[in-house]
Amino acid sequence: MAVQIPPTVAITPMGAADVAQVAALDAAAFSLPWPRQAFEAQLKSNPAAHFFVLRPLAEPQLLWGSAGYWLVAGEAHIATLAVDPRQRNRGFGKLLLQTMLADAHAHGGCNATLEVRASNLVAQHLYAAFGFELVGRRKNYYTDNHEDALLMTASSLGSVLPDQLGVHT
Ligand SMILES: CC(C)(COP(=O)(O)OP(=O)(O)OC[C@H]1O[C@@H](n2cnc3c(N)ncnc32)[C@H](O)[C@@H]1OP(=O)(O)O)[C@@H](O)C(=O)NCCC(=O)NCCS
Repeated sequence: MAVQIPPTVAITPMGAADVAQVAALDAAAFSLPWPRQAFEAQLKSNPAAHFFVLRPLAEPQLLWGSAGYWLVAGEAHIATLAVDPRQRNRGFGKLLLQTMLADAHAHGGCNATLEVRASNLVAQHLYAAFGFELVGRRKNYYTDNHEDALLMTASSLGSVLPDQLGVHT
């Protein structure tokens, strides 16, 4: 299952040089962002971590997206997914999600899980398009506003179809 990367952007594994920008994007995208050290720890001491960054080829100093998952016992747990607010609704979220699912499948992953805020309908719509289904709810999961988390899972990672991608360059 190859991911078709459009010619205007590159998705590469996150490296140490990416961490500061990834943390800044995380802070812009989430009300409970991870500290920079949490991303560094993924690189240094978490062999289950698979994190990626998306940059425009024309301006590779810019970071437009980041995403990461943990692969444990054949299950990919989506840890984070964020697109620069100025670059949203162009297909990059889909591209990053499919990159993670394809990478997990290539590493022997069979299914995927995630938590998403109950109010985050955009992300839920994105995940549903990739076969994620609602399987549960964690009450008061988020410490900032006591919002519930929805648990979603997707099985058959190998069947995620390339035509679910639509990148508007
Ligand atoms: C969720 C997020 C990563 C999506 O990134 P994106 O690049 O804008 O997403 P895409 O352009 O690839 O769109 C993918 C799908 O998301 C949904 N979507 C995107 N923007 C939307 C909007 N404004 N309204 C409703 N649905 C929307 C649609 O289902 C869309 O698919 P479609 O174009 O086939 O209808 C981005 O909004 C983001 O970074 N949000 C903040 C962080 C976050 O919530 N991450 C998820 C945590 S669980």
